[in-house]
Amino acid sequence: MNVVELLGLPALEEQLKRLEPLLVESVVTGDGFLDEVTTHLLAAGGKRLRPVLALATATAGARPATREDLLGAVAVELVHLASLYHDDVMDEATMRRNVESVNSRFGNLVAIVAGDFLLARSAEIAAGLGTEIAGLLASTLGELCQGQVAEVRAAFQIGRSQDDYSNAIAGKTASLMATSCRIGALTGGLPRSEIEAFTSFGRYFGMIFQVRDDILDVVGTEAELGKPAGQDLAEGIYTLPVLLALADPVAGPELRPLLGLPLGQPERDKARSIVAESGAIEESVVVARRYAELAAAAAAAASGPSAALVTGFADLAHSLVDSLPSA
Ligand code: IPE
Ligand code: IPE
Ligand code: MG
Ligand code: MG
Repeated sequence: MNVVELLGLPALEEQLKRLEPLLVESVVTGDGFLDEVTTHLLAAGGKRLRPVLALATATAGARPATREDLLGAVAVELVHLASLYHDDVMDEATMRRNVESVNSRFGNLVAIVAGDFLLARSAEIAAGLGTEIAGLLASTLGELCQGQVAEVRAAFQIGRSQDDYSNAIAGKTASLMATSCRIGALTGGLPRSEIEAFTSFGRYFGMIFQVRDDILDVVGTEAELGKPAGQDLAEGIYTLPVLLALADPVAGPELRPLLGLPLGQPERDKARSIVAESGAIEESVVVARRYAELAAAAAAAASGPSAALVTGFADLAHSLVDSLPSA
């Protein structure tokens, strides 16, 4: 997925090139071992989606990014990166960004402390950007943790409600996407009404993004995703497609007896194919599409000089849904 291409703001390529050395600089200490751990996933790549949201909002691809814009983008990527270090410990994941995960390579203890280190660096950078941004990032981190805790609490519960799911993903994923746009709007000096419009866009965009990720966990492969597939079902994280399949009169009774406990490989494959072959994927795509419409409408509420950005954001939101199977 080339996010910059989907956005149609080619000037962002140059901005992202300038971002990379700042990202590395922000995590390097001179301690060889710690540097190896903190740069492990950074070097492996990733889509840099949150920095793109921040930089696009700040500049609309129409002016060069300032140092503040770039540091705002570094701060949100570091929070994201830290959340991946910690999430992979929680999920016992073995692969991330097409390379061995940090927990698998260096152990859980190192992954947890290195994740904390990344959060500390992010906080330090945010503090330099002023109290509004520092406070915003801190409250976002709180929301992210609340979302992760809500997810853990719901593990293996086949009675999990769709509301519980939506609240969890709003916290763990959409909050940081909203904040990425908001920080960009703040460093870019946008008027208040546009700050609100793009924050709202980011939140809906995050909902699309997580629903999409949850669909791909069911229908994707490890090779396509660069991280393990089928992990959610195995770990008892029942996401939207699974909840919809459970509610289905045909798939539900077949699926229910398999869930509620950790799954070995054969049961996991069986559960995945029940969900994949039910109407639940299509229904999840409908939910993602609804979020894409809300995201586009939220961006459209921003008026004035950001017309290219508004169109770019709407296109990006819809293309995330278009690229799904059954869309
Ligand atoms: C992964 O996010 C975590 C989720 C919110 C699903 P990304 O898919 O943006 O991860 P990278 O940064 O591209 O690796
Ligand atoms: C990601 O959710 C949430 C955060 C990293 C905060 P997932 O657990 O679905 O992410 P992946 O699938 O491991 O990337
Ligand atoms: Mg995970
Ligand atoms: Mg996932």
